[in-house]
Amino acid sequence: NKGNYEHYMQKEIHEQPESLTTTMRGRLIRGGSCKAKSVLLGGLKDHLKTIRRSRRIVFIGCGTSYNAALAARPILEELSDLPVTMEIASDLVDRQAPIYREDTAVFVSQSGETADTLQALEYASENGALCVGITNTVGSAIARKTHCGVHINAGAEIGVASTKAYTSQIVVMAMLALAIGGDTISTQARREAIIDGLCDLPNKVREVLKLDQEMKVLAKQLIAEQSLLVFGRGYNYATALEGALKVKEVALMHSEGILAGEMKHGPLALVDENLPILVIATRDACFSKQQSVIQQLHARKGRLIVMCSKGDAASIFPGGSCRVIEVPQVEDCLQPVINIVPLQLLAYHLTVLRGYNVDQPRNLAKSVTTQ
Ligand code: UD1
Ligand code: BG6
Repeated sequence: NKGNYEHYMQKEIHEQPESLTTTMRGRLIRGGSCKAKSVLLGGLKDHLKTIRRSRRIVFIGCGTSYNAALAARPILEELSDLPVTMEIASDLVDRQAPIYREDTAVFVSQSGETADTLQALEYASENGALCVGITNTVGSAIARKTHCGVHINAGAEIGVASTKAYTSQIVVMAMLALAIGGDTISTQARREAIIDGLCDLPNKVREVLKLDQEMKVLAKQLIAEQSLLVFGRGYNYATALEGALKVKEVALMHSEGILAGEMKHGPLALVDENLPILVIATRDACFSKQQSVIQQLHARKGRLIVMCSKGDAASIFPGGSCRVIEVPQVEDCLQPVINIVPLQLLAYHLTVLRGYNVDQPRNLAKSVTTQ
């Protein structure tokens, strides 16, 4: 049921404050004066010791689910103090890459039925790794075949392009990082700040959704373009990949997410006064590096759209003017949840304006169960 919305994708974008609330329900322990704030993931509580003792964490997924894991990787590394590596499911299987008994392999899948991810799961399981699932679908193959896991509880997602599952996956993986790092005194203040940030996240998503009409105006300006580049780094490298994936999947426009640190190693050759480039430059430890990227793209007459933290619009671009998307600032590791929303809205409006099928894009399927 689409309710008052024209498309499922639109409905699912706008219901993210509620889906995120459901994802976190019962899992954040705020605690009283004597009890510290903590996280409770029922499906993992008996396995946390094994995870903490493992040699590394390997994230495995496809498409949007892979991007969600990439967004959560920095906070996992920070709070677990373990190496965290990334694998696209098909590539892991193609390479028959080393997976060991001492590994924790985390399988991220909205549907829980993706053939590539399932095959990677069988492979990792045969190799003796602890297999953890992060799925949206109770009773799905991945939920059943993993040793333990977490349901993201985002509610059914109908639109082929994943939106609310993406933000719920990131939140679950942030909670996973908090759970793994749960008994470390040195990170307690950081963990409590993240828990406060999680509690307030639905409100902040509600705020960023107000950019809907602004994104429609931007979509009108981009309607006839051939291509859109999206630059991000750090916590928001994943946002660049996922924003570009949304535009590609539904608006059928070429779009590429680029790690800003790689700009000089190739992508800079594409920059001219015609190609639109969106730079994500919200406040975090990478902010000054992103400011320098903006200056360099501007020096080459790049056609810039900058996403920045609220209040930074005037200062982000000294000596010039460009289109700015101002978003509410949250705890750095949760910022990808906020930053993807305007890009989901942009992809949605671009699709409608270009006259394409929003919920069932050409050639794509919600769940790819064959190889
Ligand atoms: C569970 C109940 C929830 C109830 C809550 C009360 C289910 C599906 N969930 O939620 O309805 O309100 O207890 O305490 O009945 N799992 C995997 N792989 C996956 C995902 C999950 O093996 O990919 C396993 C988990 O390890 C766990 C079980 O499935 O054993 C349920 O997981 P989850 O729903 O996340 O657990 P709770 O949040 O505790
Ligand atoms: C398909 C979908 O390609 O599978 C994508 O069209 C999705 O939206 C990808 O990200 C992975 O799916 P899942 O269910 O494993 O998360």
